[in-house]
Amino acid sequence: MCGIVGAVSQRDIVPTLIEGLRRLEYRGYDSCGVAVHRDGAPRRARSMARVNALARTAADMQLEGLTGIAHTRWATHGLPAMQNAHPIFSRELIAVVHNGIIENHEPLRTMLIGRGYEFVSQTDTEVVAHLIHAFYHGDLLAAVRAATALLHGSYAIAVFSNDEPQRMVGARQGSPLVVGIGAEESFLASDVLALEGSTDRFIFLEDGDSADLTPSGVRICDRDGNHVRRPERSVVQPRAEGSLGEYRHYMQKEIFEQPDAVAQTIAEAEPLSTLLFKARSRDAFDAIDNVLLLGCGTSHYSGQVAKHWFESIARLPVQVEIASEYRYRQPVESSRTLVVVISQSGETADTLAALKHAQALGHEHTLAICNVAASAMMRATKWSFLTKAGREIGVASTKAFTTQLAALFVLAATLGRIRGVVTAEQEARYRLQLDELPAALRAVLALEPQVIAWANELAMCEHVLFLGRGPHLAIALEGALKLKEISYIHAEAFPAGELKHGPLALVTSAMPVVVCAPNDGLVDKLKSNMEEVRARGGRLYVIADVGTHIEPGESMSVIELPPYFGPLSSLLHVLPLQLLAYHAACIRGTDVDKPRNLAKSVTVD
Ligand code: G6P
Repeated sequence: MCGIVGAVSQRDIVPTLIEGLRRLEYRGYDSCGVAVHRDGAPRRARSMARVNALARTAADMQLEGLTGIAHTRWATHGLPAMQNAHPIFSRELIAVVHNGIIENHEPLRTMLIGRGYEFVSQTDTEVVAHLIHAFYHGDLLAAVRAATALLHGSYAIAVFSNDEPQRMVGARQGSPLVVGIGAEESFLASDVLALEGSTDRFIFLEDGDSADLTPSGVRICDRDGNHVRRPERSVVQPRAEGSLGEYRHYMQKEIFEQPDAVAQTIAEAEPLSTLLFKARSRDAFDAIDNVLLLGCGTSHYSGQVAKHWFESIARLPVQVEIASEYRYRQPVESSRTLVVVISQSGETADTLAALKHAQALGHEHTLAICNVAASAMMRATKWSFLTKAGREIGVASTKAFTTQLAALFVLAATLGRIRGVVTAEQEARYRLQLDELPAALRAVLALEPQVIAWANELAMCEHVLFLGRGPHLAIALEGALKLKEISYIHAEAFPAGELKHGPLALVTSAMPVVVCAPNDGLVDKLKSNMEEVRARGGRLYVIADVGTHIEPGESMSVIELPPYFGPLSSLLHVLPLQLLAYHAACIRGTDVDKPRNLAKSVTVD
């Protein structure tokens, strides 16, 4: 998703801007660019390739300057193309980078064309650049405020005017933007990661804010134009991702980091305590009588797994909602709901909007389960649980998912304890299972060679079905999501019981069916579903716990996992599916860590 870096300094900032873009690469992008103030007219370099190529172009052009903005673009309006890459200029005076979507760009474009502005891109951002130009009379902040007042939709922008060499202005509404404060230099960025090594002092802008930056500092005004002081925070950046070491891709590395990431995430869960979720949650946790889980993509699937835990362990009614749907609904609400937003990045636009929607509907009890301490969601909720996955680089989420599951399990057990439905004995058993989890995850990862053999067969297919039941339905959904997003094989998952209501029509000898078969109370039902597939000539690939007695045979391949791992079984079952997607993608030669069209941090609606 689009990433912004900007700097105003007294030294050449091009290397800093390029380095910032490198740090934002993980978000996903299709083009990138950098522009600097120069006497006469701004200069820019843009690239349809990676940031490294942009760096080479900038070096060839001897691009340097004291004030500049840079961008990684994830196309929303206009194809990925050089003329659509940011920074976007207006009349060689105003330079803009933008993250977000301007919903009223069409009428604004018509109005600006009427005023003689010529459009050279298909972007909605060019409207912003020309609008600022139209309002510019020597005061960039005034022009930005006047222009943004006309915008509908979401934006984070960084802007400079070539007439004001040591000034940069930022503004945000709906999309993230952070100010970095350095020594005799000031920065703007989409997230704090972009400025690692440049500063650890940050101000998180609020919706409606504009920031006026010079090398000596920043002045912020709110939506009404009042000067405001936003708190400055010191942010200790998480450990850099380090080298790939023995791994070919970050996704592979992150899959194998899961035992440690889960261990670190649950390390503080001793004993299961409300303190985990920050002080004073005890009273509120006492008061709640149902749970609402909100998330997108993989984070939504972790909510779907956790639903089973909140019901069976904490005996609480649960709703799991896709954030992009919930945010537009008018549900019947209860004041005794614990609203849990689940997010790796803590910046996903739909999840943030769903949280705000819930808050606007009167929900007070909000909790974030998130992997980025300095994220918007962690700031916007009353309570939080920081997962300890470390930085996740691969666009396809893996270790964030399993650490979210670990955190959600701890939350369910904690609520169960508070509500008196989890006995001390059960709590001790859960604790033991959590302790044994990292070793069990390692044992499953050791099965990689068998998964590679499956990947060799499935990589040749165009369609794959996944089946599961209970919590493992969400694992099947996650397995299908992983496969489609990185290998581009069409994959769908269904509750196994629904097979006969439709998907069975798709089953032929050319349709592989992957099944999650834990040795739980539903395994006999699942076996019947598998027979339905076999009877239609379908090929089964079954991930089965030891003890299910599912034997390999004609059209039936089985990978045997350790014995059933109780409520935490879903964490074990997802690992072979992650590896399957990963190896199928490698065989098909896709860009595993940066799959086409996808972004890591989805900061637009
Ligand atoms: C994108 C990522 C997914 C992620 C989803 C939600 O689609 O590619 O991996 O699951 O966003 O992101 P979040 O940061 O909120 O977990």
